[in-house]
Amino acid sequence: MGAGTPLARARDFCARFGLRLPVVMGPMASVSPPTLAAAVANAGGMGGCGALMLDARAIAAWMAAFRAASNGAVQINTWIPDPDPPRDAAAEARMAALLAAHGAAMGDLDARPPDFAAQCDAILAAAPQVASSIMGLWPAPFVAELKRRGIAWFANVTSVEEARAAEDAGADAVVVSGLEAGGHRGAFDAAAAGRQAGTTLVLVPLVADAVRIPVIAAGGIADGRALAAVLALGASAAQVGTALLRTPEASLHPAWADAIARSAPEDTVQTRAFSGRLARAIRSRWTEAVGEDALPYPLQRAATAPLRDAAMRAGDAGHMQMWAGQAARLARAEPAGDVVARMWRDAQSLLA
Ligand SMILES: Cc1cc2nc3c(=O)[nH]c(=O)nc-3n(C[C@H](O)[C@H](O)[C@H](O)COP(=O)(O)O)c2cc1C
Repeated sequence: MGAGTPLARARDFCARFGLRLPVVMGPMASVSPPTLAAAVANAGGMGGCGALMLDARAIAAWMAAFRAASNGAVQINTWIPDPDPPRDAAAEARMAALLAAHGAAMGDLDARPPDFAAQCDAILAAAPQVASSIMGLWPAPFVAELKRRGIAWFANVTSVEEARAAEDAGADAVVVSGLEAGGHRGAFDAAAAGRQAGTTLVLVPLVADAVRIPVIAAGGIADGRALAAVLALGASAAQVGTALLRTPEASLHPAWADAIARSAPEDTVQTRAFSGRLARAIRSRWTEAVGEDALPYPLQRAATAPLRDAAMRAGDAGHMQMWAGQAARLARAEPAGDVVARMWRDAQSLLA
């Protein structure tokens, strides 16, 4: 293939980041076991760790477990913290009443994810090939430290403006996330997330035209057809989340895995019901009950902790936090290495 073709671009990306195939496992907070990351990395893709809820020791332990199973490439991801929101006693009382009506106590509203600065230090110490950010950009001193240590930076973006800002701040690649994607919208400004409309099909070529760094497409990519499509649109690789959730290595709760297998695009919904930050999940009794009335992030996450924990224990899909993207039904219950290998094989045939 000549330079500049989709396959040549993908192969350049693979060569630069030590991959044999241009598929990056989406980092998934609380759902990225090292076994899944190792399976993707051992197949030639990039493993991923969603470290949002991991403290420094847990990040080190995660990396040790990954390295014991793979010497392949891996990204570790954290969220750039949002400023603490104003408190609203009346809204909190309404949420407590709603939770009570669903059989759950209100969680501790002062609970927060582990310390961000300590997470950043732990990422440096773990020395993955790639550190990735979402919900904003890392401060310049941390970016300089990544570069000094030869750790590449993948910045998640949800618009052309965010992609330009990430390139200006020194990102080595942008992960362009379309509206179809499972999990949280990474909009830098939480309040802007609800106004966004860019699908993967629309955002990827717009961003590819606007920046010089590689574009990794995310959202709705579950097989070789979609991988070929995003490479043709200007991406160098795909980031895949939902399509890996039914693999045995993901060890997902069976109720959640079954719901993914059944869900049509319209069965997923953008909701603030679990965390307060907009995210795509499978529609449920709880997402319907909350509607637009969630507390802001991270208060809603703290408020719903007992509800979510109880739902997981009981296998109660009506209240379980079940993130999934619009392409959920294409997710296959097969080993993760087979999923990503087939994706790349089929994409190559389509693009040859
Ligand atoms: C369960 C779940 C958790 C996720 N958690 C994170 C996260 O912590 N950080 C992040 O950058 N992206 C997160 N994502 C987004 C994925 O990394 C990926 O970009 C997305 O799943 C791609 O869209 P798809 O689900 O349609 O494949 C999450 C996605 C899912 C499904």
